[in-house]
Amino acid sequence: MDLFDSLKSKIKGKKISLVFPEGSDRRIVEAASRLAADDLAHPILLGTNDEISKVATSIDASLDGVEIVDFENQPQDVINSMVNAIVERRKGKTDEEKARQWLKDANYFGTTMVYMDKVDGMVSGAFHPTGDTVRPALQIIKTKPGVNLISGSFVMQKGDQRYLFADCAINLELDAQQMAEVAVVSAEMAKTFDIDPKVAMLSFSTKSSAKGDMVTKVQEATKLAKEMAPDLPIDGEFQFDAAFVPEVAAQKAPDSDVAGHATVFIFPSLEAGNIGYKIGQRFGGFEALGPILQGLNKPVNDLSRGSNPEDVYKVAIITAAQAL
Ligand SMILES: CC(C)(COP(=O)(O)OP(=O)(O)OC[C@H]1O[C@@H](n2cnc3c(N)ncnc32)[C@H](O)[C@@H]1OP(=O)(O)O)[C@@H](O)C(=O)NCCC(=O)NCCS
Repeated sequence: MDLFDSLKSKIKGKKISLVFPEGSDRRIVEAASRLAADDLAHPILLGTNDEISKVATSIDASLDGVEIVDFENQPQDVINSMVNAIVERRKGKTDEEKARQWLKDANYFGTTMVYMDKVDGMVSGAFHPTGDTVRPALQIIKTKPGVNLISGSFVMQKGDQRYLFADCAINLELDAQQMAEVAVVSAEMAKTFDIDPKVAMLSFSTKSSAKGDMVTKVQEATKLAKEMAPDLPIDGEFQFDAAFVPEVAAQKAPDSDVAGHATVFIFPSLEAGNIGYKIGQRFGGFEALGPILQGLNKPVNDLSRGSNPEDVYKVAIITAAQAL
């Protein structure tokens, strides 16, 4: 089954609420209108009625089923409760004055709505850089219990082939413990996309074929990941070909149950992960869906600034599926 057909069937009719801080962006209005019409989510656009209605009229989009929240003109008691929630959550790191200032920013406002369970998830980044979308989530929503690190994955798909790559978006460097954690969280995320996780820890070495600190790190990460999730098929360290190609795996790692059959690929650094997914996309002809933020306690996803309405629609579907 096509990935989006499968995700849509999971979320349809469930009225999962998603906040879009960039509510008056034409692409967001178009995607929100479609999501509501298709009964895939309950979209909430931040902005003024006037502004958003004008955009909707200009693109002939219906706002039926789309809620508008004028976040800059909220009653004082609503703002006060949000300020209190932030101050309490930040445990001394953010005072009341700062929290009030944050709430004037649509991304912080939307993130706080998610944190306070007023909505189920958030999609932003159509015109904000990654940091502006992700930082409020790191500061307020934070990680799931038992997870210390947020990372960014891509679902790579072509025809009926579907894989998950991580971390391709967030952490510049990973130590062994962090790489292990990304592996375990990624395996969990893979299941959201109907990918049966077989996790390969990637390196330029396969089973000690090369030496050096970078190899030792991936070996250590593999050991830690196996300890963290003893029931998951996780193995390494593998070069990409040993992880992916059964004939190469038979040569280089004949005893592994993951080599040659991996579906989840964990990269040792952001350089490797980000370059790797783009090679898969541009040389390999795979569609790259993401970055999907993983490890957060509630779903927030970042759009690419080059997104079109179709991209926004798809990221929203993914976000709603994560909220299930
Ligand atoms: C995501 C990113 C913007 C966060 O950077 P930042 O705002 O400078 O982060 P800071 O170090 O100031 O941390 C802010 C908070 O987030 C937390 N945090 C930062 N990175 C985190 C992570 N990966 N997981 C969990 N928490 C994290 C910090 O602990 C801090 O929490 P605190 O305020 O409670 O102490 C940064 O990691 C980044 O730019 N990554 C690369 C993004 C990129 O360019 N990707 C390229 C391809 S898309």
